Amino acid sequence: MTGDLFAALRAPTIEHIADGATWLRAYAEDDAAALIEAIAQVTAQAPFRQMQTPGGYTMSVAMSNCGELGWVTDRRGYRYQREDPLSQQPWPEMPAIFLALAERAAAAAGFHNFLPDACLINRYTPGARMSLHQDKNERDMSQPIVSVSLGLPATFLFGGAGRADKPLRMRLESGDVVVWGGPARLRFHGVDTLAQGAHALTGDCRYNITFRKAG
Ligand code: SIN
Ligand code: FE2
Repeated sequence: MTGDLFAALRAPTIEHIADGATWLRAYAEDDAAALIEAIAQVTAQAPFRQMQTPGGYTMSVAMSNCGELGWVTDRRGYRYQREDPLSQQPWPEMPAIFLALAERAAAAAGFHNFLPDACLINRYTPGARMSLHQDKNERDMSQPIVSVSLGLPATFLFGGAGRADKPLRMRLESGDVVVWGGPARLRFHGVDTLAQGAHALTGDCRYNITFRKAG
């Protein structure tokens, strides 16, 4: 039964999706409830907000950050900064469970000694989407991206080196982790419009936590 808290856990599997890109299915499933609790603690201090793009659009995805550096966007552009623009205070510390998972997942995908200093937390409600983009505001492109999905499933679009390359469509479920780096570090990616649903751990939303070495 879907949505049953006592449903059997999925077996973790490791799938190579492209040179430098790995799909760790169900990798974070055991930690999902604790990760969601940590998201609640972070966002009690740095609440989710829908940011403005430089072009003046309001993003459909609500965001927050933890760690030394947080990714933000406003009319002035995309960037990382040490302070939450809402409070002018440093972003909340990265919870230990976040850091441990990010390091473990990166290593499982072949990237050892990953030490992220930035963690973006995305919240999607039905109708929210993220258009194809590259993660390129980070200074250190030798470090991978570790992306953890929690709650409602979503279709992740994993594109190529060019915006026009036809993306792979990956249905990410709660607990799935995708890691891309090295030759895949600048691949375009995005998330298709989130469908309605109900998840035992998150209700009507999907969270994504993305770890990066930004500074
Ligand atoms: C992102 O690219 O920042 C988010 C990806 C996702 O939500 O899976
Ligand atoms: Fe991204």
